[in-house]
Amino acid sequence: MFDGHEIFPATAKLNEQKHLVLGGCDSVELVQEYGTPLYVYDEDTLRGMCREFVEAFGRAKGVNSKILYAAKAFINPAIAEIVSEEGLGMDVVSAGEIAVSLASGFPSERIYFHGNNKSQNELEIAIDSNVSKIVIDNFHEMEILNKVALSKGIVQDALLRVSPGVDPHTHVKTTTGVLDSKFGLSIDTGDAALAISKAMELPGINLRGLHCHLGSPIFELEPYSIAVEAIFRLASQFKMKGFVMEEFSPGGGFAIGYTRGQIPPPIASYAEVIIKAVKDCSKEFGMDVPEIVMEPGRSIVGRAGVALYTVGSTKDIPGIRKYVSLDGGMGDNIRPAMYDSVYEASVANRMSDTEEEKVTLAGKFCESGDILVRDVLMPSLKPGDIVAIPASGAYAPSMASVYNLNPRPAIVIVKDGSSRVIRRRETYQDLMLLDVF
Ligand SMILES: Cc1ncc(COP(=O)(O)O)c(C=O)c1O
Repeated sequence: MFDGHEIFPATAKLNEQKHLVLGGCDSVELVQEYGTPLYVYDEDTLRGMCREFVEAFGRAKGVNSKILYAAKAFINPAIAEIVSEEGLGMDVVSAGEIAVSLASGFPSERIYFHGNNKSQNELEIAIDSNVSKIVIDNFHEMEILNKVALSKGIVQDALLRVSPGVDPHTHVKTTTGVLDSKFGLSIDTGDAALAISKAMELPGINLRGLHCHLGSPIFELEPYSIAVEAIFRLASQFKMKGFVMEEFSPGGGFAIGYTRGQIPPPIASYAEVIIKAVKDCSKEFGMDVPEIVMEPGRSIVGRAGVALYTVGSTKDIPGIRKYVSLDGGMGDNIRPAMYDSVYEASVANRMSDTEEEKVTLAGKFCESGDILVRDVLMPSLKPGDIVAIPASGAYAPSMASVYNLNPRPAIVIVKDGSSRVIRRRETYQDLMLLDVF
């Protein structure tokens, strides 16, 4: 019996040979065709998540909403195209992400530009590309943006990123909305209020609203409603001065299930809490209900992606640990090494075999910290077995490196029994492309 449905893509099932099937494609055959490590994205799951967000936030009467896909979770032209077809906007954090979006035909008027240290050059590119909004993170950026906008004879629509001082109880390295964070203008220090006043005075900036992002992955609902209230309270102080919060964004951060033991609330529950808080606060502070702008990344693309690896060497240290090494690791998924992220794993070519021993799945990179899954119960693994790690779609390929000069994996999209390569495997020649001989 295959019981990993909550963490594998929605189309995942087993076939008669007890192989893992994704988007109608036998994962063993995918590996035969494309090799490992291989990232497989299920198109139905990806599109399904886009639709779930649009539906969940579009359901409430009297509230307009907009869903932006946070490109940092993973972008390439094929993903951008799907996100565009689903009607989402794009949250980008670099001119590189702008370039890929535009090259994929993504409409610039649906792009929001984030980041805590945008360069003048990047701001110029964003303005020249006609992006929808620039989300100002700090005073330095505000000055540069004003100058660039004036030099181009435009008034740039912008939001301000506010740090509301709310702890969403996630990993310290992925917490962003607290006082001690490099991101945003803090309410507690008075910077956020000062920034609103200043932005309202600058002729090159049209302040359209406020934004916050608390961290990720957030399994709780309450931090969102606390943050909404903090930001509305702040915005209400500027009502008399003529500030209208036309847009409000509580960011992204919605959790996904990495393990069967920790499944997050459905998107509809996050939506309910956020919409209720926005409506209640609009009433409480006597403001019009702003358009709600959501920025999910992980939750759009995380569950859609499965990483496939081939088992190689094994090292058994009696009474201590059995290491089973895979042909990928921290180069294609840095999350366990960087954030202590926990995953589950299955044997894609023997999905119904009994789990009989505890092993640690290590990568092939020259770091002791290169562990993909620690102490996981698996069937006895042999060289050549294919290990599938579900929920690998977000922040794995997008953070991939060529450490140790291991080429980065191929990436395919599967749908209705067909697969197509959306990023070919890196070659040894590719690894030297930028080098000058
Ligand atoms: C400003 C902003 N919005 C959205 C996101 C997306 O977060 P997630 O992928 O957890 O939904 C991030 C993640 O870092 C972010 O910094």
